[in-house]
Amino acid sequence: MRTKTSVGIVMLLLCVVISTNGLASAGHGNQAIKKVGILLVAFGSSEASAQVSFENIDNKVKAAYPDIPVRWAYTSHIIREKLAKQGKHLDSPEVALAKMVDEKFTHVAVQSLHTIGGAEYHDLRKTVGAFKSLGGFQKVILGYPLMASQEDMVRTVDAILATIPKERKENEAIVLMGHGTHHPSNAFYAALMFQLQLKDPNIFVGTVEGYPEVDLVKELMLKKKIKKTYLMPFMSVAGDHAKNDMAGDEEDSWKSILTKAGIECVPVLKGTAEFDEFVDIWVDHIRGPLSHFR
Ligand code: CO
Repeated sequence: MRTKTSVGIVMLLLCVVISTNGLASAGHGNQAIKKVGILLVAFGSSEASAQVSFENIDNKVKAAYPDIPVRWAYTSHIIREKLAKQGKHLDSPEVALAKMVDEKFTHVAVQSLHTIGGAEYHDLRKTVGAFKSLGGFQKVILGYPLMASQEDMVRTVDAILATIPKERKENEAIVLMGHGTHHPSNAFYAALMFQLQLKDPNIFVGTVEGYPEVDLVKELMLKKKIKKTYLMPFMSVAGDHAKNDMAGDEEDSWKSILTKAGIECVPVLKGTAEFDEFVDIWVDHIRGPLSHFR
C-alpha cells in the first residue's frame, strides 16, 4: 500500500497561507522568534488495535521533548478517508505542514514512523523537500525511519530479542512479518534476518509484499525441522496485515500456510510501536533534526 504525495497541493496551500498571512517575511531577519515543532508521520491505520501503538509513540515523544508541540499526519489517503467517516480527522503530511506554516512554526522536525526508508519514506522526503524550497519555515528536516544506519540495525536486533515471548523455547521459531516493498530498501529485511540469526538461528524474517516471501521462510524452517513458531508483525502497528495476512484463517494466511506444513503457529498481535525498545529508536531519531535547530 502506498500513497502519492501531491506537491501541487502543497504549493497551492502554501501560496494561500503565505499570501493571507504575510508570512513570506518569516525567514527574513526574524531570527529571534523561534517556534520549534515535531510532526510525526505514519502510514496510519483504521484498526482500533493500532491506536495503542500510536498513543504509546505520542506519549514517549512528548515525554522526551516536553517543550515541543507535537502534531500527527497519516500518509494513507484511504485510511484518512475511513477515519473521517468515523469522525476522526487526520491530516496528510502536506496539510499538516501547511497548517504549521500557518501557525508560524519556524523549525519543524518531521519524524518518519516507518520501519525502513522505502517508497513512503521517500515520498515524505519529497514533501519535506518541497516545503524546504518554498521557504515557509526557516528549517524543516526529516528524521530517519526505524532502520537506517548499522547502529539502528543493532538496536533493532536487540529490541526484537528483548520482546519475543518469554515462554518461547530455543527449538521453537520466531517468524517476523515485515511489510515489504518494491523499493530498493526492501533489502533491509534479509539483512535483518542475517543479523538476527547470528544471535538466534531460529528467528526468521519474511514480508507480505517483498522478499523474503513466506514460502522461503517455510522452506528454511522445514530444513531446520521446526515444529512450532510464534508469528509476530514487524510493523509499527498490528493492523490489517497482522490480523489477516499473518494470523487470519484464510487459506493464504501465514498461519494457514505454515500450519499446513506441519508447523504449529502462535500469533502475537502486537505492533513494534507497542514496545518501548522500538519506540526509543524512533524517539532518538528526532534528535537528528533537532540538533540542527540550535
Ligand atoms: Co500494506
